[in-house]
Amino acid sequence: MLRTHTCGELRISDINSTVKLSGWVQRSRDLGGMTFIDLRDRYGITQLVFNMETHPKQGEQARKLGREYVIQITGKVAERSNKNAKIATGDIEIIVDDLTILNKAKLPPFTIEDDTDGGEELRMKYRYLDLRRNPLRKAMELRHKMAITTRNYLDKQGFFEIETPYLIKSTPEGARDFIVPSRMNANQFYALPQSPQTFKQLLMVAGYDRYYQIVKCFRDEDLRADRQPEFTQIDCEMAFVEQEDILNTFEGLTSYLFKEVKGLDISNFPRMDYADAMKFYGSDKPDMRFDMRFVELNDLAQNKGFVVFDQAELVIGINASGMAEYTRKQLDQLTDFVKKPQIGAAGLVYVKYNTDGTLKSSVDKFYSSEELQKWAERFAAKPGDLMLILSGGTDKVRKQLNELRLEMGNRMGLRNPNTFAPLWVVDFPLLEWDEESGRYHAMHHPFTSPKKEDIELLSTDPGKVRANAYDLVINGVEIGGGSIRIHDRDLQKLMFKHLGFTDEEAQAQFGFLMDAFEFGAPPHGGVAFGFDRITSLFGGSDSIRDYIAFPKNNSGRDIMIDSPSPIAQEQLDELRLNLVKAKK
Ligand code: AMO
Repeated sequence: MLRTHTCGELRISDINSTVKLSGWVQRSRDLGGMTFIDLRDRYGITQLVFNMETHPKQGEQARKLGREYVIQITGKVAERSNKNAKIATGDIEIIVDDLTILNKAKLPPFTIEDDTDGGEELRMKYRYLDLRRNPLRKAMELRHKMAITTRNYLDKQGFFEIETPYLIKSTPEGARDFIVPSRMNANQFYALPQSPQTFKQLLMVAGYDRYYQIVKCFRDEDLRADRQPEFTQIDCEMAFVEQEDILNTFEGLTSYLFKEVKGLDISNFPRMDYADAMKFYGSDKPDMRFDMRFVELNDLAQNKGFVVFDQAELVIGINASGMAEYTRKQLDQLTDFVKKPQIGAAGLVYVKYNTDGTLKSSVDKFYSSEELQKWAERFAAKPGDLMLILSGGTDKVRKQLNELRLEMGNRMGLRNPNTFAPLWVVDFPLLEWDEESGRYHAMHHPFTSPKKEDIELLSTDPGKVRANAYDLVINGVEIGGGSIRIHDRDLQKLMFKHLGFTDEEAQAQFGFLMDAFEFGAPPHGGVAFGFDRITSLFGGSDSIRDYIAFPKNNSGRDIMIDSPSPIAQEQLDELRLNLVKAKK
């Protein structure tokens, strides 16, 4: 063994024992007669002491050690005179007798410290060095804990973990597929799965009843802080269940994770219709750490001579409690915020409910105090509050107000990353209209079942049909989504028809699933959690990248291994691929 203990293990109770440690040189201090080295491994840091008088050879060696050298020492545990309460081994140090250099290291391109001087690109290039840093090590530990805790819970609930293939068939629904050419089948291609959706349904037909998998999924879509081209899901499916059974099972998983991983009791999982989420929060993933729900003002604000409101489809606002003291400058900042091109509002109207009870608005010209008083009542505003109002087309203005609500939540400190507010959003629409292709798309996916009572609307008003579909949202992040599936061939066929597939196309793409439905498919449904997302949420971060050992950058590149990259002409020939000049 190259070590008897790790660098995070030794305590005052180990004093006088002889130990062998191995690790990386974090830093060294040469004080003339003594050299101190901080030795680091995954478990922690232990201070080493080299005494020039008693061990001149080792002392000389120690002076020459560079940062990140890999060394092994033998020595005796001693009590420190200068204790360090910040680290677990801070009461002791090792008086070194022997030192072996296991490997030298070049000077790292950035400091391996909690706060590093390396920029993001540089750290991505040397990801294995970045992973040595404490914040990333902790992130990987959290990810491991989340995975093992998930497996324990689902195993106890009788779920089987079953792997499904990564080389599958390309389908036109959803995001873009990543495509893999087949050498053995000329001019034919596999696709990497966007999720194991159809396979998990086939496992239900096969009678496996409760399936899960912590599984990689691949989607060729634009990247954001919460999106990677390859990401991981906790993917689940259950047979002989209704929506309620699934929600309960996965509330159970979520609560269990909060308890086991963070020691938190989180058992309140309220539910909200999609329609209400849009009406009151302008989003299908409202952040419920704070309320500030939308208030509609059309009847109070229109037809009083203020043309902007009169011409709007919807006049709608929020009440920022206790913010009436906002200065002109702060209000201007808010106006600039909503006018940003990404948000696109034409302007912002405010009403201050001053602490003396008077009301002051940016539209005083058009509204009397009595009228503004009625607005305040509608907002349930108190003296000291600030009402912020937008107007415009219904869908657009709700989205804009959602952004403003979140911004006010940030400004007012209502979005504490250590507070967790889960919410199930239920009753999503089955279909959504896509302007570009001029047809309906499945809002969740084409295997989602419509609500029984809405099936008739499919032929008359397809946009109104609600689905047995649900999302788990925590703190405004879509953690997971799922649905009760169609398990009947005819209904599945009808669904494809509404999505614009001909019978032949549906059969060619999804015939295997519809055929399976004719061999005794049980009622079934499921859900998938974004594993990277729930892990980063638990870690208190918005960016999933920090919780993935080897992520891609914003252009979908792995800059460490330099991928994607060209391949050799022989490989291209073997795959019968011709290169075309890349479009600029
Ligand atoms: P859906 O497409 O909603 O459902 O995905 C489930 C969850 O996966 C996460 N997610 C992502 N995380 C990181 N990067 C991405 N690019 C990315 N895309 C999605 C989200 C999302 O809620 N098969 C269905 C599930 C089902 O119906 O059972 C599915 O994949 O957290």
